[in-house]
Amino acid sequence: MISLILQRFIILFPVFLYTAFAAQQPQPETFRPVTASTLNPVYGPLADQIVSEFGLAEKTGIGIDLGSGPGDLIIELCKRTENLHWINADINPRFFPEFINRAGEAGFEQRVSAIYADAVALPFRDDYADILVSRGSFQFWEDLQAAIAEIVRVLKPGGVAFIGRGFSDNLPVETARQIRARQKERDFDLSYDVEAVKQQMENILKDLGIQNYNIRIPRPVGAGDVKYGIWLEFHKPVS
Ligand SMILES: C[S@@+](CC[C@H](N)C(=O)[O-])C[C@H]1O[C@@H](n2cnc3c(N)ncnc32)[C@H](O)[C@@H]1O
Repeated sequence: MISLILQRFIILFPVFLYTAFAAQQPQPETFRPVTASTLNPVYGPLADQIVSEFGLAEKTGIGIDLGSGPGDLIIELCKRTENLHWINADINPRFFPEFINRAGEAGFEQRVSAIYADAVALPFRDDYADILVSRGSFQFWEDLQAAIAEIVRVLKPGGVAFIGRGFSDNLPVETARQIRARQKERDFDLSYDVEAVKQQMENILKDLGIQNYNIRIPRPVGAGDVKYGIWLEFHKPVS
């Protein structure tokens, strides 16, 4: 009798362990944020704009997407750049397995990396990256000035940063309107004041001695009250 109980225990214990632990691990499909499909149309036009304005199509070097999350922007940037290596630098590594899988499926496994990164203490050496982009993340950074100082540090002299939230100017107004309507249904908070953010960014850039910058608040023709967000571009001084 005792040996029968022991036998059952030996067989069933591994099943119990699997049920209790492994089976409860989140499956890759649960990594996708609920808003991902809503935002899908945003990344292609944004990547078009970044590649064309900063002349990235044939550029070699390192690009960082800070707070890239599932990495949709990086995948679109890889499609439009031949020689840049793109790094997903995010404080939340739970997105990384899915990002690496998707990049692999798209044929970009040799052109992407992912690293745990807090914007206020970036894990890169000085003068490392040719470009740093970031969408929809800066509003979560603990200290925007410390983060921008870090971005200046890791950019190569002459390197460019393009950081913002919302949509690029070239996103069709009807698409933007539909996305905002869907976000409103989900109580997405869009109450931030773009002019106040602009002022905050200007103060920070002045403190850091960055003069070569441009802050855009896209307002395409016909957009009306559809909020396109705000974007900061700045260039690290060469000397
Ligand atoms: C709203 S999601 C945007 C994701 C992606 N950039 C996009 O446009 O789809 C915000 C991202 O910023 C990341 N994040 C928040 N705080 C951060 C920080 N201090 N440093 C780096 N990433 C951060 C989050 O983990 C998340 O992936």
